[in-house]
Amino acid sequence: AAGLGARAAIMLTNTVTGQPLDLAEAPEEGRDTKAVKTFLETGRNIYNEDPVCLPKAHELFLSMCSGCHGHYAEGKIGPGLNDSYWTYPKNETDQGLFETIFGGANGQMGPMYGALNMNEMLLVMSWVRHLYKDDPKGAVWLNDSQRAAFTPFDANAKHIEPAEELPEACGG
Ligand code: HEM
Ligand code: CA
Repeated sequence: AAGLGARAAIMLTNTVTGQPLDLAEAPEEGRDTKAVKTFLETGRNIYNEDPVCLPKAHELFLSMCSGCHGHYAEGKIGPGLNDSYWTYPKNETDQGLFETIFGGANGQMGPMYGALNMNEMLLVMSWVRHLYKDDPKGAVWLNDSQRAAFTPFDANAKHIEPAEELPEACGG
């Protein structure tokens, strides 16, 4: 546990209280993946639009998030996560979205560190981003080439099927 916080170059804080997140609360598993290390160094999620990892990301979203946020993150008892409006504007960044998932927000949006490891949080985040349906200009989490290639999600079009498998390239 010690050393995890020390390794983070970015300062992670709770979305509601602003208190520092204690990364030691996350499971041991999934701490040392390339994606988690890169995220703790840079605040960026390398799984965004990664075609190898999106099937597992989809499966994790369906099991952990869709019950409250809807199948396509269109909103249900929790708000829609597939559009350019955020209750907490920082959620348009990878860092902000991670902070909200890790530490929770208000009401039924509890902290997810008991249910997902940090690598899985980054995977789930990439599926939330993939479901984005608004103008790609608002997709500030993408780099320029990803943004140029990004097609807003269309529930009626063919989309990436969920898969249980966690490929090695996705922390497996
Ligand atoms: C809020 C993500 C699971 C209920 C949010 C927000 C995000 C988020 C990013 C803030 C949205 C904004 O700023 O507009 C996720 C993800 C989940 C998950 C990725 C799965 C890993 C759940 C579950 C529930 C839930 C299981 C219900 C038990 C809510 C509610 C809010 C919320 C009620 C509003 C909280 C507030 O405004 O403070 N969620 N969520 N979420 N979520 Fe979730
Ligand atoms: Ca929204």
